[in-house]
Amino acid sequence: MATIRKMRPDDLKQVEYVCRMTAGPTFQNDPVLGYRLARMFSTYYARECYDSSFVLVDDNDTVVGYILCEPNYKRFHKVFRKVDVPEIKKLDKKSGKQAWLFPIPYDIFGWKYPAHLHIDIMDEYQNQGYGAKLMDALFEELKARKVKGIMLQAHLSNEGAIRFYKRLGFKMLSTKLETATMAKNLR
Ligand SMILES: CC(C)(COP(=O)(O)OP(=O)(O)OC[C@H]1O[C@@H](n2cnc3c(N)ncnc32)[C@H](O)[C@@H]1OP(=O)(O)O)[C@@H](O)C(=O)NCCC(=O)NCCS
Repeated sequence: MATIRKMRPDDLKQVEYVCRMTAGPTFQNDPVLGYRLARMFSTYYARECYDSSFVLVDDNDTVVGYILCEPNYKRFHKVFRKVDVPEIKKLDKKSGKQAWLFPIPYDIFGWKYPAHLHIDIMDEYQNQGYGAKLMDALFEELKARKVKGIMLQAHLSNEGAIRFYKRLGFKMLSTKLETATMAKNLR
């Protein structure tokens, strides 16, 4: 049995762990690649967006899943590039370039879908309805904040996740560079 609560900044290490463990064997087995991935997909959100993000925790309050959400694409562009890109660049040049490009899809569609999310759940907690519950918690939060739409990106090969998003009302916006960009109106 797991429960959902708002994220706290001190959840960062556990969120990073879930990020690595749900990203497949390459990231699970290589600490350098795993750290790079988590640095890109977790650190900013734990620092800037914990109040609009939720974690799924077990009976010991250990994080077993999360939905991370930045409600404001303009803030993401500004702060991620100023604070996070220089740090990621120190890891290596290629990662720095990837990080610099990271806000672009959110800039393109942000006028209509200002928020974006990342969701991941540990294997043993998948397919039990927790993903849909995390999404519901986030939709309620964003509606209360009067955010008009939300978007996400998924690798095109991740058919299960894409099916999951479609079932929750996300529509496909584009399928470029092996990436599905999907979005949902919240009004
Ligand atoms: C994608 C992901 C977030 C979905 O979360 P989830 O908790 O597994 O999703 P849900 O349980 O709400 O729904 C998934 C499936 O379980 C089924 N399901 C829902 N509630 C259920 C329940 N109580 N009992 C059994 N099955 C259930 C749904 O019908 C759905 O089936 P389908 O997609 O095969 O048609 C999760 O599987 C995950 O983290 N995957 C690995 C990482 C990943 O791919 N993240 C997304 C990156 S873009």
